[in-house]
Amino acid sequence: MAPLKRCTYLQLGSFLLIIIALFFVIRYIPFTNMIARNRLPKPFWEPLEADLAQTRQVRRIQNLLHAKERSVKQELMNYPWPSGMNSSWVIPKYGGNPIRAMILTTWRSGSTFLGDVLKSHPATYYHYEPLIHFGIHQIRSGPKAHRAQETLEKLLKCNYSNLDAYFTYAQKHHETFAHNERVWNSCQRGKEQSCWNPQFWGSMCKLFPFQVIKTVRVRANLIERFLEQSKSLNLRILLLVRDPRGTMQSRTHRVWCPGNPDCEDPAMLCSDLVNDYKTAQHLTKRYPDSFRVIRYEDFAANPEVHSKEILKFVGFQSHAKIDEFLKSHTNANIGGVSSTFRDSKTAPYHWKKDLSFDVIQTIQGKCQDALNLWGYRTYANESQLLNLHSVMPFVLK
Ligand SMILES: *[C@@H]1O[C@H](CO)[C@@H](O)[C@H](O)[C@H]1NC(C)=O
Ligand SMILES: *[C@@H]1O[C@H](CO)[C@@H](O)[C@H](O)[C@H]1NC(C)=O
Ligand SMILES: *[C@@H]1O[C@H](CO)[C@@H](O)[C@H](O)[C@H]1NC(C)=O
Repeated sequence: MAPLKRCTYLQLGSFLLIIIALFFVIRYIPFTNMIARNRLPKPFWEPLEADLAQTRQVRRIQNLLHAKERSVKQELMNYPWPSGMNSSWVIPKYGGNPIRAMILTTWRSGSTFLGDVLKSHPATYYHYEPLIHFGIHQIRSGPKAHRAQETLEKLLKCNYSNLDAYFTYAQKHHETFAHNERVWNSCQRGKEQSCWNPQFWGSMCKLFPFQVIKTVRVRANLIERFLEQSKSLNLRILLLVRDPRGTMQSRTHRVWCPGNPDCEDPAMLCSDLVNDYKTAQHLTKRYPDSFRVIRYEDFAANPEVHSKEILKFVGFQSHAKIDEFLKSHTNANIGGVSSTFRDSKTAPYHWKKDLSFDVIQTIQGKCQDALNLWGYRTYANESQLLNLHSVMPFVLK
């Protein structure tokens, strides 16, 4: 009995070995030439697996899209549409044209706060700094400007194709997408592959009737081409300006700023402010319904009133969600440097305490024209700094 059994095992073992050996022979012998030429084909099951994974991901994205479509609908329940209008007019997926708003500014000028106010509006898609992968540079002219304009235009139209550099950057720096919570949460905040899929973002984007794009890298001279199409794009652009002393003070707390002249040199900031002023004069005359300027200090002094005006300008309706956001974010002085949970009345003026008078004078020396044009007071001495308000009445002329 025992010898027989041992024999059966032996036979079975050899049989298996032969099968395995045969497999490798069949698998590799015909391709030895190719091995030599380093062109070994992938095992036959790999494409199948890739197909399956792709099918699974397509199906997954489809499910996420359906869920988001329902949640957008939910957010828009009881939305006070102007008479005769409904969501199919403004949701790209149903052939509508979304209501678009662009905030144009530079680093540390209060745009986080304004952006958060706008995205607290229901069913709002937030393109947060879509040129973030351009690095710590201001974009003013040349081939880079052309690429930046192209990127902005594509994103305004929910076209995420050929933006490899953007997605590569986003994979390493999740803040690229994280401010767009309505979509970022859908792909598990970066844990799912869909987060890096251009089709996912493109199709998600097309579900939203309200779109906000905030950019801190292009200068005002580059956005006229969007204003030319402002009717067909349903786009309003808001230039947000801040006292350069406040901007510079706020930037000193940022680790990414030092070593980058566009960020740390007040002369660069202020030459941009002067050029933006000239551009703004022209754009306000030419596109009074779709271009506007606001100073951060004015906005922060009265966020309730200014938010209402800005919402009206961009074509969003006032909403309880925005009132709620403002109430919880404008009084209590809690949270860290990047937090918008702080007292909006004092936030713009930390520089008056935190900068030495020497530094203030250095900045003023490089910013005389910018300060004059945008209505900010130049201080001759410390007693003036203590006693006189830095913000003077201002109208763009
Ligand atoms: C929106 O209005 C159009 C007519 O202008 C109508 O055909 C469509 O059914 C409406 N859609 C919704 C979702 O109410
Ligand atoms: C999206 O952008 C690419 C260029 O990057 C263009 O070829 C394509 O036609 C655009 N798609 C749509 C739907 O406009
Ligand atoms: C500060 O400067 C102003 C304007 O030049 C001057 O009138 C004032 O006397 C100065 N105050 C002090 C304390 O130096």
